[in-house]
Amino acid sequence: MFNYLDFSSNFKSQMIAKIIAALTIMTPATGISQGKYEAVGRVATTNEVAAWDIDVRPDFKGLPKGMGSVAQGEKVWEAQCASCHGSFGENNTVFSALVGYTTKKDVETGRVASLMPEAATPTRTTMMKVSQLSTLWDYINRAMPWTAPKSLKPNEVYAVTAYLLNIANVVPENFTLSDKNMVETQNKLPNRNGMMTKHAMWPGNEFGGVTKPDTQGSNCMTNCVTEAKVASLLPEHARNAHGNLAEQTRAFGPSVGADTTKPAVSTGADAKKAVVIPAITVAAAKTVEKSVESNTSLKSADVSGILSKNACLACHGIDNKIVGPSFKEILAKQGSKADAVAYLTAKIKSGGSGVYGSMPMPAQSLSDTDAKKVATWISQGAVK
Ligand code: HEC
Ligand code: HEC
Repeated sequence: MFNYLDFSSNFKSQMIAKIIAALTIMTPATGISQGKYEAVGRVATTNEVAAWDIDVRPDFKGLPKGMGSVAQGEKVWEAQCASCHGSFGENNTVFSALVGYTTKKDVETGRVASLMPEAATPTRTTMMKVSQLSTLWDYINRAMPWTAPKSLKPNEVYAVTAYLLNIANVVPENFTLSDKNMVETQNKLPNRNGMMTKHAMWPGNEFGGVTKPDTQGSNCMTNCVTEAKVASLLPEHARNAHGNLAEQTRAFGPSVGADTTKPAVSTGADAKKAVVIPAITVAAAKTVEKSVESNTSLKSADVSGILSKNACLACHGIDNKIVGPSFKEILAKQGSKADAVAYLTAKIKSGGSGVYGSMPMPAQSLSDTDAKKVATWISQGAVK
């Protein structure tokens, strides 16, 4: 934990000293000096601070005790990570591939050769770039799996980190990662020596104390360029690859995104395929509605609790495709099946891929009753 008065800059400490002096004059002696901020919040509890204070630093301070083997990590990976990142961390549909383009030689040198200008590998995998094992551990611990951040136990984080290091050929198959051998393992990370201060992003004393930032600009006083030229753009077919960002509400983070459907994608057969959502056929929907015996049709309000609790809406919209198909599209495809409810209940629990495209759906850990309720709602028309 840092002390907020512990600034290295003289200027800042002087300012703070002045502010505190001013406040002390304005506040009765019982105020700041005794650490009381009456009517301003309350003191955080030890548990609240512990829940927030989870960072693991480059010197491994903050790392909880624990351990996990490559074999245990493979189980965590297959159940909770592979659906998005691929069995070998190779998938780059959801995010850049996590593993690849590092060699045994890199493990020895600590510099990833494929990052060097002469190698010119366009791909940048996580394992190529990451220079601190603490960063990898910390990131997985705080941010993954994407749909349920902070749900992994420390031993699971150790295990899955060990698995990633194994598929990157950094550690052997019988390896167990623990708080005891993190330093040793750090010393095998392929890009551990890849960080530089030459560009003076941080004051780099080893390069003669260069303290200027690494941007190189000069003030323009005459004949200045007024319009910036955009050097790279997301290709049209990729823009809407994950559905319309503006319509997506994630369970966390800012929910507002750009409308990626506009302007409409115009060229290329493949481009069209990637974004056009098959329109629900009204006839198919009607047949389903008739074939459902129950007169009490479920509305989205009846299942919204289940959908948000399980983060289904991060991947499915009612009318719009996100990562997965819209519920209306699922209805159009599966609604006419005689055993639609049973089929959908089973699929919600097991997940799968290939029915709508290559993007897989991870297995969902909700109860049979909840899965059946959602399946029934879909087959009754996915009514809003
Ligand atoms: C539902 C899809 C999904 C699942 C499941 C998932 N991830 Fe991720 N992962 C992502 C996305 C998307 C990103 C990029 C996030 C960002 O940049 O904000 C990411 C980023 C990462 C990164 C950081 C890569 C980098 O270079 O910055 C790591 C490491 C990672 N995931 C590991 C895991 C592990 C381990 C699991 C399983 C415990 C997991 N992920 C499960 C979607 C997922
Ligand atoms: C990480 C993204 C993701 C999450 C979270 C997710 N799904 Fe899916 N879902 C998908 C994808 C992708 C498909 C398409 C799979 C395919 O093509 O076979 C899919 C398919 C489906 C299907 C159709 C299966 C079929 O064979 O027709 C149903 C029903 C479904 N999801 C319901 C749900 C429910 C209910 C939840 C929440 C409990 C949920 N999904 C959570 C991504 C997700």
